[in-house]
Amino acid sequence: MLKDKKIILGITGSIAAYKAAYLIRALVKKGAEVQVVITPAGKEFITPLTLSTLSRRPVISEFFSNRDGSWHSHVDLGIWADAMLIAPATAATLGKMAHGIADNMLITTYLSCKAPVFAAPAMDLDMFAHPATQHSINMLRSFGNHIIEPAVGELASRLEGKGRMEEPERIVEYLENFFATQGVLQKKKILITAGPTYERIDPVRFVGNYSSGKMGFALAEECARRGAAVTLVSGPVSLSAKHPDIKRIDTESAEEMYRASTEAFPDVDAAILCAAVADYRPATICGEKIKREDRGDITLHLTANRDIAASLGAMKRKGQTLAGFALETNDEITHAESKLRKKNFDFIVLNSLRDTGAGFGTDTNRISILDNKGELTDYPLKSKQEAAVDIVNKLISLMK
Ligand code: PMT
Repeated sequence: MLKDKKIILGITGSIAAYKAAYLIRALVKKGAEVQVVITPAGKEFITPLTLSTLSRRPVISEFFSNRDGSWHSHVDLGIWADAMLIAPATAATLGKMAHGIADNMLITTYLSCKAPVFAAPAMDLDMFAHPATQHSINMLRSFGNHIIEPAVGELASRLEGKGRMEEPERIVEYLENFFATQGVLQKKKILITAGPTYERIDPVRFVGNYSSGKMGFALAEECARRGAAVTLVSGPVSLSAKHPDIKRIDTESAEEMYRASTEAFPDVDAAILCAAVADYRPATICGEKIKREDRGDITLHLTANRDIAASLGAMKRKGQTLAGFALETNDEITHAESKLRKKNFDFIVLNSLRDTGAGFGTDTNRISILDNKGELTDYPLKSKQEAAVDIVNKLISLMK
């Protein structure tokens, strides 16, 4: 997948810069052409000689060469590349990329780059967790850039946490996956449901659940980043969709979500149903706030909501792909299998509330994907953005 691919490798001032040497070697072994662009701080951590020897190309750092005055055109470089990978990417570089602060060759090249951009952050855990860094990362994601999340482990500071640059083999795998699946979602239409539904009891109360919408929104962003036009039918959440190719439809109840989803479905190529839809709603909605008074206990009569997934499964036509989720607390595989069949899904994403860090509200998820051929793949605990990459890769493999 990487054969003859032209890759700009941006290296910044981090101790993880030593891993860039392994990265270049792995990319070159796969047949890629690598052009290194390094920041002045990056050169403090790894020498241009090492990098040019491994990449077999002169390393670029300044706007012009001091030796012969020749000009390094960031514009030409940006046009030349099939991908730009910034690894390691420091907090400073992420911030400059997010705000277009073009004070070095790497950032001007980034701003001129027409190709997909990948950044593998590397920094101390507190720097990574800081709202400023997270804000930069979110901005870069909203530009369509790919963030290769850092791993959790021992850091240069000897502290333990999230901030280690992802290992070179994993970064290469990420790029290979990207090129293998590139274009499949281009111009495709995808429906995603996300978040909870609120079923009104009276003007101030509802029956609902803990879904935050994070998993569904991550899926919407990932599909849009890969070129799809996304219709995101969302329940009540406090998130915003960043990518311009996401059309968001806000709903509150299961019935509203049902109507929006069944209307959108005939026109899409695929749907991923991630919403936690309430299975029941109060049979009647009280027009006035129910007063406590001295009534003692009250009984809420619930009536079943329509199953959006089962309805879309019944409507599904040839050429459409339908995926759903199963949120379980016990007998996970058995329940997931049964939902896969009943709702006519092509694959189902299982997450269990028994796994720490998985399910409602968390920034992470631990998923397994079961498809209708019986193939089951387990994934480790990852950020919801990374889990979305795995789910979208599965979708693409079935749509190809
Ligand atoms: O939003 P987050 O806080 O990030 O949390 C993510 C999540 C835990 C909500 C998500 O990962 C998840 O598991 N979503 C599905 C939750 C759920 O309702 O699962 P279920 O097993 O009850 O439903 C099975 C499938 O049928 C789901 O695809 C669901 O969207 C769909 N369904 C269910 C009922 C209904 N009336 N209509 C539906 O479409």
